[in-house]
Amino acid sequence: MSGEFFTLKWTGRTLTILDQTRLPAETAYLNLGTVSEVWDAIRELKVRGAPALGVTAAYGLYLGVRENGPQDWSGFLEELHRVKVYLERSRPTAVNLSAALDRIEVCCQAMSSNTRPEEGLKFLLNEAGRLEAEDQLFCERIAAFGQGIIPARARILTHCNAGALATAGIGTALGIIGRARASGKDVEVFADETRPLLQGSRLTAWELQRRGVRVTLICDSMAAWTMKERGINLVLVGADRIVANGDTANKIGTYGLALLAEQHRIPFYVAAPVTSFDLKTANGRQIPIEERPPAEITSCGGRPVAAAGVRVYNPAFDVTPGKLVSAFITDRGIIRPPYDLESFRRAFV
Ligand code: MRU
Repeated sequence: MSGEFFTLKWTGRTLTILDQTRLPAETAYLNLGTVSEVWDAIRELKVRGAPALGVTAAYGLYLGVRENGPQDWSGFLEELHRVKVYLERSRPTAVNLSAALDRIEVCCQAMSSNTRPEEGLKFLLNEAGRLEAEDQLFCERIAAFGQGIIPARARILTHCNAGALATAGIGTALGIIGRARASGKDVEVFADETRPLLQGSRLTAWELQRRGVRVTLICDSMAAWTMKERGINLVLVGADRIVANGDTANKIGTYGLALLAEQHRIPFYVAAPVTSFDLKTANGRQIPIEERPPAEITSCGGRPVAAAGVRVYNPAFDVTPGKLVSAFITDRGIIRPPYDLESFRRAFV
C-alpha cells in the first residue's frame, strides 16, 4: 500500500477496491458487496496482479457464502465449495487465487461437523484478513532480500505491474525498486507499456511516479533497443505462477524479454511471494493460460484499431523457461539455479 492510495481494503461489510481500469485518469474506488461483483471486478481487471487476486478471492469467498446463509455445517461446506469453484473460473493463471481458496476450504473441511455456520463465516473473514496481512509481510521481505540484486546505479526494465497495485502491500518487483530508491541508489526504471491492456503505462508509470522513482515509458517493441542503447543492467518482473522446474508464467511479453536479456547478457530476475509458487505442477506446459477477448486488441479507448473481423490470438500470459531466470527474489530469500522441487522445498520450509 502507498500513502496516497490503497489497492483493496475490507470496510466492515464490503470489500473496497481501487478500480484499476480507470487509472491513470481517475482514482476511483468501488465497493464490492456480492460474490458476483467480486467475480466481475477480477474478470475485468478492476483488481489484478497475482497476490491481490488471492486476497480478493478470499474476501469474495466470504461474501458468497454469507449471501446464501447456509443453515448447517454440511450446507456451509457445500456452499463454500460452490463459491470456490465459481471464483476459480474468473481467472485461471495466477495460482495465488486458487491456492488461497484451497487453503481455506481444507481448513473448513477439517473442522468439526458441529461447527455453526456463523463460526464458519467468522473464520472465512479472518482467513481473508490473514492472507492480506501475510501478503503485506511477504512484500516487505521481498523488498529487503531484493536489495542484493540492485546495483548502486540501476537501469531496470520491467513489464506489466508488480507493484502495490498488484498486491495488498508495497508490491514485489516495485517494492524492491522503491526501497532501493529510498536507500539512495541511483535508479531509473524503463516500463514497458504492456499491450494490450497497458498495465505498464497506466499503472506502473503512475505508481512509480507517486513513489518518486524515475520512470521512462517505452513501447513493448522498444525493449531490445532500450537494453542496447540505455544501459539496462537488469530486468525485474513479477510472476503469476512459478512451477517446480522454475518455469514462470507472467504477463504476455515476459518470455520475449527473458530471451532478449539472455542475448544482451543482462540478468533476468523474478520477484514473487511463496503464494505464487505451484510446486505441484511439474513444468510450464501444464500452466493454464488465460485467453482474453479479441476486442482488447482490436480496439483501443473504445475505437477500432484493427481491420474489422480479423482473427485474433490474445493470450494474457506466457511462460518463461526456468533456465532463463537468473534468480527468484522471494519472501524466504533469493533462490538461484538449478531449480527443482527439492531446491524450492528447501527454500520454503
Ligand atoms: O493481467 P494482470 O494485470 O493481472 O497480470 C499481472 C501480472 O502479470 C503481474 O506481473 C503478476 O501478477 C505479478 S504481480 C506482483
